[in-house]
Amino acid sequence: RSKLPQINNPSEAADLIAKAKNIIVISGAGISTSLGIPDFRSDKGLYAALKSRLGPGANPTDVFTLDVFRKDPELFYSIAEKVLPPDQIYTPFHSFIKKLSDEGKLLRNYTQNIDAVEDNAGIPAEKIIRCHGSFHKANCETSDCTYSTEGSSIFPNIREKKLAFCPRCAPKRPDVLKSKCANYASYGVMRPGITFFGENLPQAYDESIDEDEKNCDLLIVAGTSLKVPPVSKIIDEIATDVPRILINMDPIHHTDFDINLLGYSDDAAFYLAGLLGWKLDHETFEAK
Ligand code: OAD
Repeated sequence: RSKLPQINNPSEAADLIAKAKNIIVISGAGISTSLGIPDFRSDKGLYAALKSRLGPGANPTDVFTLDVFRKDPELFYSIAEKVLPPDQIYTPFHSFIKKLSDEGKLLRNYTQNIDAVEDNAGIPAEKIIRCHGSFHKANCETSDCTYSTEGSSIFPNIREKKLAFCPRCAPKRPDVLKSKCANYASYGVMRPGITFFGENLPQAYDESIDEDEKNCDLLIVAGTSLKVPPVSKIIDEIATDVPRILINMDPIHHTDFDINLLGYSDDAAFYLAGLLGWKLDHETFEAK
C-alpha cells in the first residue's frame, strides 16, 4: 500500500465518510467499554481479570472454548454476567453507526460483540452481522437435543452464577452423570447462542461476507484488537484501494490503515459527526 498511515486526521476521515456509499464497520468490545462492559484483551479487560483469578498458566480464552465448556460449564457461568447485554443503553459510537445507516451509507456492521447494544441504538437488524453470535437464544448443549429458548430466560441463572438446565434433558441428568458419557458435565446445560472458539461463525456471516467485501467502498475498524479470525482477515479481502480508518484506543500494528484515529471511540463519533454536520442522540454523554 502506497499511502503512509496518518495519525489523528479526523477531517480527512470525515471527507471519506461523506463520499462513501457502502461502508463496512467492523466493531469490537472497545466501542462498549464506556457502558461499563469490559473488553477482552486490555489491562482492565475480561481476560486479565480471569488470568489473575485462574492463576498463572491459565488460558483465559478457555471461558469461550467449546471443549472446555463441555468439560466444565461452570467456568463460563462464573463470568458470563460480566458480558450480559445491558438494557436500553448505548454509546455515542453506536449512535454514529446508526447515523451511517440513516444516511444510507452503512453497507454492514460486522460486530464481534455479544452485548447486542446495536439493537438498543436502533441499528436495523439487516445491517448487523453478529459474527460471534448473541445472547438472543439459548440452546441445550446435549448433542441430540434441539431444545432452544429465549436467551433472556437464562439470564437470572447467569447473574446468580448457577447452571441453567434444559427442561427435557435435566431429568435424565443423574443417570447420565452416573454413566459418565462423553461431555457429561455439560449434558442438559443451556448455552447461549454465542460463538465459542472451536465453532463455525453463524451462517449469516458466510452468506454476506463475500458480496460485502466486493461492494465495500470504505472500511471503518473500531474498538477491536483485530486478533480473532476470520473477522481479523476481512481487511485482507477488501480491495487495497478501499480506504481504511481505524478508531481505537490502541494502535494496530499487524495491518495498515490510511487513517488512525487513536482515542475513545465516543470522542471520535462526536468529532466526526460534528465535521459531517450530523447530530447524535448523546449530546450530554460523557465518555469514561
Ligand atoms: P479486544 O479486547 O481484543 O480489543 C478491544 C480493543 O478496543 C482494544 O484494542 C482497546 O484498545 C480498544 N478499546 C477499549 N476501550 C476503547 C474505547 N473506549 N474506545 C476505543 N477503543 C477502545 O476485543 P475484541 O477485538 O472485540 O470473542 O475481541 C474479539 C473477540 O475476542 C471477542 O468477540 C471475543 C474475544 O474472545 C467472543 O466473545 C466469542
